[in-house]
Amino acid sequence: MSSSEILIKARNLTKKFGSFTAVDHINFEIYKGECVGFLGPNGAGKTTTVRMIHCFWPLTEGELYVAGFNVSTQACEIKRIVGVAPQEDNLDPDFTVIKNLQVYARYFDIPKAEATKRAKELLKFFQIKEKQDVLISELSTGMKRRLILARALINEPQILLLDEPTTGLDPQARHIVWDEVRSLRKRGVTIILTTHYMEEATALCDRVLLMDNGKIIEQGNPSALVKKHIGAEVLEIDNDEKLLQTLKAEFPAARFEAFGDRIHVFTMQPHGVFERFLERNSLTHVTIRNANLEDVFLKLTGRRLRD
Ligand SMILES: Nc1ncnc2c1ncn2[C@@H]1O[C@H](COP(=O)(O)OP(=O)(O)O)[C@@H](O)[C@H]1O
Ligand SMILES: [Mg+2]
Repeated sequence: MSSSEILIKARNLTKKFGSFTAVDHINFEIYKGECVGFLGPNGAGKTTTVRMIHCFWPLTEGELYVAGFNVSTQACEIKRIVGVAPQEDNLDPDFTVIKNLQVYARYFDIPKAEATKRAKELLKFFQIKEKQDVLISELSTGMKRRLILARALINEPQILLLDEPTTGLDPQARHIVWDEVRSLRKRGVTIILTTHYMEEATALCDRVLLMDNGKIIEQGNPSALVKKHIGAEVLEIDNDEKLLQTLKAEFPAARFEAFGDRIHVFTMQPHGVFERFLERNSLTHVTIRNANLEDVFLKLTGRRLRD
């Protein structure tokens, strides 16, 4: 459960690469026991932020504290209590599955017997125990991802940083990762993840921070953000001028957005308004669906491709 104890605190956190500002004076707090998602289009600054939390990149400006330790002066203390699953696959292809964990454990001075015990437990937890003696090249993408998660936990971290933990996974593998993340959270691990999947953020995160162009542009609980920015439901209709005029008359405050040859209608209104409208006007080719975090994401960051 989350508490009100602040575990990570960023003030004017800034990272520049040359003259380019990747993270631009951001402020945030992460509370103990939370699962928090950093969302945002490609290049928003999510990975750079995560990398500053685990002392990979020095800050250009600002302050960042992790469990009370200053990232600029107490990297050793922080690395001991943080686990990191990076965005890219950086497993060692020359080692077996279990050896990858044992070698990683050396960075934390974990004695060999203890490292092997933990490695076996983690491989069991992540459902890859039967693969412990095979080389990395023999693992599926989902297994590699789960091994990276296992590796991130070898030092029994209080804080787990997961950078796009399920990118490229099929739905089965993604759901296994979700179950594992939930069960780690239940054990009290504070989790920060980045993701492009709004469904994932909704399923896992107590709170999300939405980044764009190096800034945090919105934050909050996923369903509260949906309610605040979109409302309860979205109506999707074929692009038809007569129908549009009827809708505009009925919902003068609504927002209409073209999406290919479909129009999405956002009203901020509660459940049921679209259904009653449809009943009064016998309409076909319309869909009422629940508003979701992706609607919020697209509203706040736009539809322009970023890379
Ligand atoms: N080592 C680097 N050198 C120069 N620019 C970088 C470097 N790392 C990231 N960037 C730039 O910083 C911006 C933010 O990158 P990143 O944090 O990886 O974004 P995200 O993870 O949100 O996709 C991008 O424009 C990226 O190209
Ligand atoms: Mg990234």
